[in-house]
Amino acid sequence: MESGKIDYGAKEYADTKSFPFRTDVEKYTIFHLLGNPKGMRILDAGCGEGIYSRELIDRGASFVLGVDGAKDFIELANKKNENYNNKIKYRHSLIQNFKGSEDMDAVIGSYVLSYPKNLEETIEYCEAIASHLKKGGKFVGFNNNPFEVFDGKADYSKYGFEKRMNGAINGSEVIYLLGGMDNPIINFYLNPEIYEEAFEKAGFSDFKWEKISLNPATTKPLEYWNKFFDNKTPFIAMTTKKK
Ligand SMILES: C[S@@+](CC[C@H](N)C(=O)[O-])C[C@H]1O[C@@H](n2cnc3c(N)ncnc32)[C@H](O)[C@@H]1O
Repeated sequence: MESGKIDYGAKEYADTKSFPFRTDVEKYTIFHLLGNPKGMRILDAGCGEGIYSRELIDRGASFVLGVDGAKDFIELANKKNENYNNKIKYRHSLIQNFKGSEDMDAVIGSYVLSYPKNLEETIEYCEAIASHLKKGGKFVGFNNNPFEVFDGKADYSKYGFEKRMNGAINGSEVIYLLGGMDNPIINFYLNPEIYEEAFEKAGFSDFKWEKISLNPATTKPLEYWNKFFDNKTPFIAMTTKKK
C-alpha cells in the first residue's frame, strides 16, 4: 500500500479531537512550539479535517494550505471551511507527491510522520515539506514517540486509547485503538535516527526531539496526567528549520 493511505474515517477520527490529551497536550504542545503564527503562511501537512488549519487562522496566521491523502478528511475539512474560505485552501494529495514553491513560513505536521515505513519514504516526506518552506522556515511535528518501545500493549485507557507495538522493529505497525473509533489507527515504527537522518538529507538543521507538554490551564487534576507523562510518553514532538 502506498505510504500514507489510511483505513479509518474522518468523522470517527474527528470525534476524538475533544479527548483531554488532544486539547491539553497535543494542541498545546504544537502551538507552544510553533509560537505566535500571526501573519504567517503555513502548510498543514496531513491536515486531516483541518482542526489545526482553522486554529492557525484563529490565532492570526494569514494563510493556511492544508494537504491530506484521505479524500473523506479533505471533504470534511472543506465542509467546515465556511468561515475561513479565503484563508484556508485544502488539497487532496499525499504529501510526498505535493511539492511547493518555498513560500511558507512554517509547516506543521500533526501525526503525518507516523506513516512512512522506512528511511527512503521519510526522506520523501521531508523533501516535500522542505519544498514548501522559505529558508529558515520552521517545521513542528507531533507524532508517535519512537523512544517509547515495548512488546505488546500499553494501557492508556484513562486517556481514551490503547497502544500496541512489537518492539523497535523499523517498519513494524504501531496500532492505536481509540475509544469511539471502529477502525484502528495504524502507524509505523521508525527509530529516532531515521527521522534525524531524513530531515538532514532533506536540507534541515537544528533538529530537536521536543518533550510534549501539558497546558497549565488543564481542567483535569494533575494526578490524572501521571501515567501519560510517566517515563516515556506515547507521543513526542519535533522541531527543525530549513537551511
Ligand atoms: C492521525 S490523522 C491527523 C490529522 C490532523 N493532522 C490532526 O491532527 O487532526 C493523520 C492524517 O495524516 C494523513 N496522512 C498520513 N500520511 C499522509 C501522507 N503521506 N500524505 C498526506 N496525508 C497523510 C491521513 O490521511 C490523516 O488524515
